[in-house]
Formats: sequence, structure tokens, C-alpha cells
Amino acid sequence: MSKELIRLADCTMAFDEDIVLDKINLRIQDKEFLTLLGPSGCGKTTTLRIIGGFQTPTSGDVLFDGVRINAVPPHKRTINTVFQKYALFPHLNVYENIAFGLRIPKADAKGGKVKLPEEEIDRRVTEMLEVVNLKGFEKRRITQLSGGQQQRVAIARALVNQPKVLLLDEPLGALDLKLRKDMQNELKRIQKAMEITFVYVTHDQEEALAMSDTVVVMDAGRIQQIGSPEDIYNEPQNAFVADFIGESNIIDGIMRADGVVEIFNRRFQCLDGGFEKDEAVDVVIRPEDVDIVPEDQGQLKGTVTSVTFKGMQYDIIVDFYGFKWLIQTTDLSPVGSRIGIKIDPDGIHVMKKSEYSGMFGDYSSYSEEYEEISSADPDGEGSGDEE
Ligand SMILES: Nc1ncnc2c1ncn2[C@@H]1O[C@H](COP(=O)(O)OP(=O)(O)OP(=O)(O)O)[C@@H](O)[C@H]1O
Ligand SMILES: [Mg+2]
Repeated sequence: MSKELIRLADCTMAFDEDIVLDKINLRIQDKEFLTLLGPSGCGKTTTLRIIGGFQTPTSGDVLFDGVRINAVPPHKRTINTVFQKYALFPHLNVYENIAFGLRIPKADAKGGKVKLPEEEIDRRVTEMLEVVNLKGFEKRRITQLSGGQQQRVAIARALVNQPKVLLLDEPLGALDLKLRKDMQNELKRIQKAMEITFVYVTHDQEEALAMSDTVVVMDAGRIQQIGSPEDIYNEPQNAFVADFIGESNIIDGIMRADGVVEIFNRRFQCLDGGFEKDEAVDVVIRPEDVDIVPEDQGQLKGTVTSVTFKGMQYDIIVDFYGFKWLIQTTDLSPVGSRIGIKIDPDGIHVMKKSEYSGMFGDYSSYSEEYEEISSADPDGEGSGDEE
């Protein structure tokens, strides 16, 4: 997975005056499973269409194997696409749907047309049926298949042409949750077995984390972060990424020194450094990284305001100085109880302030109000909590 296959260099896409992709830079490695993740309208499909050749960027370059391909039409790229609405042919059976592309005569070197021999077609269709686990379904009509089976026919139909890259635009969007999970595993298995580069689009963060080698988080036509699922989750670059990937409490903090961040006028040990002294920062604390302890042993103390049983854990909302955090715990702390919390240094992640600071999360948005409350003398709930 070390060879670069596709590169987008400063790609901008504008429709009239509207810039929908703003200088995108992206490198895609051979045999990589790369996912474009982001909210509706952020530019995922547009990026995919540029890679596939269905759209030409307004400016910037698209490179394939180091060669500029801006003007190369889709059918001349060794790239295939599975769209969300995977339009199978309802009047053809499974076998003929997969064989369809192979039956189209191809131009040969002398400008004539050649057809693939029937044995070759049969060999390749049979191989694909095995890859997508549909052996025995050859004669079935498309209307007699489940959603997941239809999806697999669409994937087989795209893969049978032996592309180097498969582009998949929300291919599991129409499936129910259980089938979605099964198909996620199935797609991952197919990608590994066929050793093909997958560029996958989804707005489902769990799906992106579960399937990808590399996740590209996008918002408003810009790439916010590129990294492994672990990087994206553990080291989000800004409040947008932290909020979009998983649950996050995002708190205003002040970096007092390398490894020391202050929140709620308390100093916490952390693993981050490289900030200016006393730089204002955003601090991410994941709900699962907070330990509940008796009130008198807590680094912070607060009141439980809501409890939701989630099977594996309770989601509790805890009020600190009037600000609400989400905490996940296996121990029940009833509504109204006072608790203390502890956070290990590796449970704290410090980020630079960004345009997204102060924008996210019901339980996690600490805006100007915090300044007011922390400078005022807190009474009532907060009175026991100050240094
Ligand atoms: N042909 C077009 N003409 C004008 N605007 C367009 C065109 N195609 C896309 N857009 C705009 O570009 C932006 C990005 O669209 P795109 O389809 O790439 O988003 P997306 O991330 O795939 O969203 P979704 O998750 O809803 O599919 C949107 O604001 C969309 O309205
Ligand atoms: Mg889209």
C-alpha cells in the first residue's frame, strides 16, 4: 500500500459563482480503502465524480499513476463506479447483469471491434459470482433478490471489468442497519481479496471507521482531516472533526504549559504540547474516557441530570457549573446524585482554536457563557466546586 495511484492537486470545483470544492489535495494509494466522510452537501459526490471523470475540475489537476487525466473521459479510465441507485437491468437475470459490460464489443488496435469469447465471459462471471457469494443465483431475476443481494450484483458488475479503482457512492444507503453491517464486512473482504483500490463515500461515521484504511473528513468543500480511523478518532484536528466522529465533550481550555491544560480553572495533565503559553484551546474529552469517582475524590464535581440505558452502558448527562457533559459508564448514578470525575492524561485531547470553535454539541458547547460564569462567583450547584 505504498504506491500513489491517484492524486488530486489543488482541485477546485465551481458552479457559476458557487465554490463547492475549494483546493482539494488528496493522494490515494494503490490497494487502499479510502473513505470520503462528511455531511450532506460537503462535496463528497463531486470529488468522486472528478476522480471518475464525470466532472472536470474548474482548476487543479487530476493525476492517475503520475499522468494528468483531467480530459480523459470516464470509459477510458480504469476506474469503475457503483452509484447509490445501482440501476440493475430488471429484465436480465443475475448472470446476464454481471456479463453485460463484457458483451459490449471493444475497439481493437486496428480500429475494428472485438468481442470477448464466450468461455472468457463465463470464466469471469463465474469468478465474480464466487467473490460476491452469489453462486447458485445465476438464473434469478433481479426482482427476486433481497436488497443486499442486488447490491452485490451491482458490485460484481462493476468489478468484472477488472478496474484498478472502484468508486462507491453511499452504496449501502438503501439497506437496513443489519444488512448494512453484513455488507460492510462483505465489501471489506471483497476489496482485500481483489486487491483493488476503493474510494468510498458515506456520511455514516461508524461505517467509515469500521471499513477504511484512510478516512478523509470533509466539510463545506474543504478537507478537514486525512488519517487512519484511529488518528481521526483519537487526534481530531478541530471541533468539527471531533464532533462529527463519535461523541465528544468539547470544552474551552487554556494551555498553561506543555502537558498542562486548564479547564474550569483546574489544571489537568495531558499528553499534548507545542502550544503558546496561555493559548486558548479546544479540549476534547470523549464520554468513555471519564471515570466516575466519589464526589470528594473528583477533579471536577457535578450533578447527574439525565440517565439513558444503552444496553452496554448508561449515557449520563452531568452538569458542571451549568455546562453539560455526556459521560458513558457501566455504573448507575441516579438523576440528582452528585459525582466526581477523573480524567487520565491520555483521555484529554487538546486542539487549536478554529472557525468551528464553540459551535458543536448540546452537551458540549461552552461559549461566552463560560467566561461570565467563571468570572462571577458561582453559587448553588457550583459552590463546592471551585479551587
Ligand atoms: N451540477 C451542479 N450544479 C450546481 N451545484 C451543484 C452541482 N452538483 C453539486 N452541486 C452542489 O455542490 C455541493 C456539493 O454537492 P455533492 O453532491 O458533492 O455533496 P455530497 O457531499 O455528495 O452530499 P450528499 O451527502 O447529500 O450526497 C452541493 O451544495 C450541491 O448543491
Ligand atoms: Mg452525494
